[in-house]
Amino acid sequence: MKPQERIAELIDILNEASYRYYVLDNPTITDQEYDKYLRELINLEEKYPEYAREDSPTKRVGGAAVEKFDKVTHQTPMLSLSNVFNEEEIREFDKRIKKEGITPQYVCEQKIDGLSISLIYKNGLLVQGVTRGDGLTGEDVTPNVKTIKSIPLKLTEPIDVEVRGEVFMHKKTLAKLNEEREKEGLPALANVRNAAAGSLRQLDSKVAAQRELDTFIYYLMEPEKFGITTHYDAIMYLRKLGFKTMSETKLVNDIEGVLTFIKRQLELRPNLSYEIDGVVMKHNVFAEQLEIGNTAKYPKWATAYKFPAEEALTRLKDIIFTVGRTGRITPNAVLEPVILMGSTISRATLHNADFVTSKGLKIGDIVAIKKAGDVIPAVTEAIISRRTGKEKDFVMISTCPMCDTSLVKRSGQVDYFCPNDTCPARNINSLIHFVSRDAMNIEGLGEEIVEELYNLGFVKRIPDFYDLKSKKDQILEFDGYGEQSINKILENIEASKERGLARVLFAIGIPGIGSKTAKVLAHRFGNIDALMSRKKEDLENIPDIGNILATNIYEYFQTHQDFITELKNIGINMNEVGGERKENELITNKKFVITGTINDYTRNEIKEILESYDGIVSESVSKNTDVVIVGDSPGSKYDKAVSLNITIWNEDKLKEIFANLDKD
Ligand code: IVH
Repeated sequence: MKPQERIAELIDILNEASYRYYVLDNPTITDQEYDKYLRELINLEEKYPEYAREDSPTKRVGGAAVEKFDKVTHQTPMLSLSNVFNEEEIREFDKRIKKEGITPQYVCEQKIDGLSISLIYKNGLLVQGVTRGDGLTGEDVTPNVKTIKSIPLKLTEPIDVEVRGEVFMHKKTLAKLNEEREKEGLPALANVRNAAAGSLRQLDSKVAAQRELDTFIYYLMEPEKFGITTHYDAIMYLRKLGFKTMSETKLVNDIEGVLTFIKRQLELRPNLSYEIDGVVMKHNVFAEQLEIGNTAKYPKWATAYKFPAEEALTRLKDIIFTVGRTGRITPNAVLEPVILMGSTISRATLHNADFVTSKGLKIGDIVAIKKAGDVIPAVTEAIISRRTGKEKDFVMISTCPMCDTSLVKRSGQVDYFCPNDTCPARNINSLIHFVSRDAMNIEGLGEEIVEELYNLGFVKRIPDFYDLKSKKDQILEFDGYGEQSINKILENIEASKERGLARVLFAIGIPGIGSKTAKVLAHRFGNIDALMSRKKEDLENIPDIGNILATNIYEYFQTHQDFITELKNIGINMNEVGGERKENELITNKKFVITGTINDYTRNEIKEILESYDGIVSESVSKNTDVVIVGDSPGSKYDKAVSLNITIWNEDKLKEIFANLDKD
């Protein structure tokens, strides 16, 4: 078979598989088979780029980051929906339609908690994806939209069409994302909508690609072009074109049908993988929709019934404090167990003392709790009218609940910390963190075992793990430890020495360094000595690091040199494993500033290329700058570079250097 034909065949196989998996939720090939075909396609496309097609699944991985999104004016404004909140208001809506002399027939749909998107296809190929924006003008987020697997890159018919629908994030995806964010020391995203919106507006489509967004399409523009006269038929046609539409779409003939649909959705809601916040009812017949008309903001032929916010009342029995591995003290609400959206809640984080005081919570209060984004339970308020006078004021503790050391609060921060490096709570949690899956991944060492080894005195500090083999006989004397399981654990501990720099950097628990930042550092520096010898200013200029993290890293290594030497002596590999590092003497470890317009590259492209060779790009020129890259109409940075006698590269020089990089 000719390469062009094989490429076409592979694209068809992969797109079909993707459609079955992401749209129909009915996979027909295994992940391994999919990956095998995809690798074959990637290889062929690399060899024969002239045959790469726009609908190839390789276009879904995300490309270079952009600096900002282009604004796009919608051909037809993207309207919003009016809201109704109870049965009476639903009936009033129905009456208003009947008043127009129209017999209503409603399509009932779920109201998806996401954000709306417009997708434009030309000749059956996806050419543009635009956010709603203010309804008149949105942002062109095409590269991000292409990463959403349920959006077809090619339709089953070669038509020109605009469709609209909702982009959303599954509840599980948000939970996973928040788990990762917590590890990185970032605040949790409050709900699926914010998370989806933030993901769709990522300037770097590679990041958007990791967010696993999904869609439901519910609107076909210019249906008359396709001879379609009702909304229900439009949905069927969208489905035929390859779009993912809601399976809960029901045509009913009267308001009773709408009420039954609402009841059903309330029952389904807790078990859905995605979040719905109501039900949308739309009059079915397009010609009559036109008669009923729109206001400037929303159609008068449709409305959204919004579910009451899911809230529950329960008693705040106590506020207890936990100590994290960095020493951070978190107040937690101990609640009378209560069921909210299908799960029992008995604990909720209260974040910090300021949060508790700002809500005026007292122990013994009846409090309202809500699930933020239906994932994290949150205490929203105290019900003052239910107070009996027996409630107790909240008092922030001043000493660590584990080791009694006086807590400290750094200026400008809301959190209190236990400053005691030998605090057992801190130590146990740092040991648990060290062996955890994303860190050194030492299987067999679960939280309970680590805690026990700590309490028995076998492991007090990280290096002790690696000395456990010499204490095997002593450990065996304790109940519950069999020789085989100890041997397995000891083997796993030995194997962990080869995890490499990124995992070590994450595992040792430098404040604020999550696994992602650890990977960035490992990739950039390659080994721990290169990282430890850096000045704070150098660290600050690394993308994603910034001032606070740079200080943390710098201070950590200033104070932990002996500890790092100890780990090295144990034989822990402190080099980056895997991942190839690129070097170039003109770029690697040199500091760059870019000024003026370069014609053949965007600033981001230049930055990306320099950074891929571990060059450091910063904003302002100083005597530490090695090279200033100067384009057309440069600013004062150019004058400063001249006055400081700094090497200058113009566009030609830059192109020459970049061209030589490709030959390496
Ligand atoms: S139809 C002209 N249908 O809700 C009518 N919107 O509060 C356009 N939404 O901006 C919207 N699920 O982002 C429609 N089944 C559904 C929906 C839905 C969620 C969103 C959409 C809209 C917002 C209005």
